Amino acid sequence: MGETILKMQGIEKHFSGVHALKSVNFDLRAGEVHALMGENGAGKSTLIKVLCGIHKKDGGTIEYLGKEVSFHNIGESQDAGISVIHQELNMMNHLTVAQNMFIGREFMKNGLIDDKAMEAEAQRQFDKMGVKINPAAKLGDLTVGKQQMVEITKAISRDCKLLVLDEPTAALTLPEVEELFKIMNELRDKGIGMIYISHRMDEINRISDRVTVMRDGEYVGTVNTAEVTKDDIVKMMVGRVIMGEQKTCSTCPADADVILEVKHLNAGKEVKDVSFQLRRGEILGFAGLMGAGRTEVARALYGADRRQTGEIYINGKKTKIKTPEQAVKNGICYLSEDRKRYGLMLDKSVTDNSAIASVDDFIQGGLINDKKMRNMSAEANAKLRTKTPSMEQLLKNLSGGNQQKVIIARWLMKNSDIFIFDEPTRGIDVGAKSEIYTLMDELVKQGKSIIMISSELPEVLRMSDRIIVMCEGRKTGELDISEATQENIMQLATMREEN
Ligand SMILES: Nc1ncnc2c1ncn2[C@@H]1O[C@H](COP(=O)(O)OP(=O)(O)OP(=O)(O)O)[C@@H](O)[C@H]1O
Ligand SMILES: [Mg+2]
Repeated sequence: MGETILKMQGIEKHFSGVHALKSVNFDLRAGEVHALMGENGAGKSTLIKVLCGIHKKDGGTIEYLGKEVSFHNIGESQDAGISVIHQELNMMNHLTVAQNMFIGREFMKNGLIDDKAMEAEAQRQFDKMGVKINPAAKLGDLTVGKQQMVEITKAISRDCKLLVLDEPTAALTLPEVEELFKIMNELRDKGIGMIYISHRMDEINRISDRVTVMRDGEYVGTVNTAEVTKDDIVKMMVGRVIMGEQKTCSTCPADADVILEVKHLNAGKEVKDVSFQLRRGEILGFAGLMGAGRTEVARALYGADRRQTGEIYINGKKTKIKTPEQAVKNGICYLSEDRKRYGLMLDKSVTDNSAIASVDDFIQGGLINDKKMRNMSAEANAKLRTKTPSMEQLLKNLSGGNQQKVIIARWLMKNSDIFIFDEPTRGIDVGAKSEIYTLMDELVKQGKSIIMISSELPEVLRMSDRIIVMCEGRKTGELDISEATQENIMQLATMREEN
């Protein structure tokens, strides 16, 4: 490992009512991957935003390449060779992939934007990374994972000395994570220093040289990854060890009522003839690789996809679900994997964001009972330990993970019978993860049923009573939890159709 390229010392940052950074230290060497960890709201993203000039620090010093610096905006830090992939992607969905990649540095020809040249250059970059994305496609048409890959390619295509990745893998699945790690190893060999933020412990072990942990805005410590265990790091993060064990047998009685039955569900090319049953009090896991069609099944069930055909029975009664409103009326709620696109109201308060789906429950005599709405919202968020200075705080001022908790609270407040959770713990820290698991267990104990889509196999194995595996739009298998292993799930997840 090379010389120190970044030294942040005693960094302070206050927001109104929140002391987000309390004398935080952080340093980075050339050719090093330095992981930054901590619970949701610990201050990780804020530290990065102070570094790259988005936020002005209230105290402390930043030394970069041997000189004290203070960037006033992101342009200045970029010019100095610092590239940041932010947790919240801020890209233009209506522009093409290539246009997004070269935003602010467009290729020109005769005074006009040269789309062809930009697409060719984008293609060259993708080829170099082994990524399959069409540069002429509209960004908004790509999956979140692919959008993330565009952002990564964009950051790497700039000549940089320091690369920050703020939860780059939250939306990626295994093969894509592998791809990213390969790229990161190449960058490491070139002497580029990387700051890596992730809640996935396995990744930290594999990719990082050192780990710095933050808790509640404070610097806890820095350790060499090779010298500590996962549990050591978790302990530093949350002050306790959290165990996660696989479920060994189903907790749903075999004779429980079938609450939902889906027969021959089809939706475009993404869902092909999928049939399954969901019982009362059951957690049905959906496993598979990205693009397997799991989210599309959920969207079809929820009436969000109008192309669906097939039969849906709720409590034995054939039911038509053509719109999300009809789904909600029939007791189905859907927590989308892409919470930014389908649900966050960033300029509204935590209360408003929590209560929006159940507003009807708070109407009394034609008026909304504000107090009741605030209390119920506060209660749901307290269960999830959402970190916010008040219920009136605007959602955009919460950390990424806490924004997600608010959306989960929204669906908890809604009294549904069937919950579809799509990647419920993506981007959520280990402590909060186990709280969400506990909540799901409570829901099924109350007789609710859950469909859980997850790309994290340990999560699938820990929560599900039964597991459906999909590959390329088809259901390739169904396993009782007692017979499920990572191996047989992966085998089914990669079982492509012959010819
Ligand atoms: N613009 C802002 N205005 C007010 N408070 C803010 C703002 N940005 C962040 N905060 C607060 O600062 C604290 C740290 O937030 P930060 O986004 O740095 O957390 P994080 O460690 O990145 O968490 P996560 O894992 O959820 O992404 C949180 O309490 C958050 O609510
Ligand atoms: Mg963050």
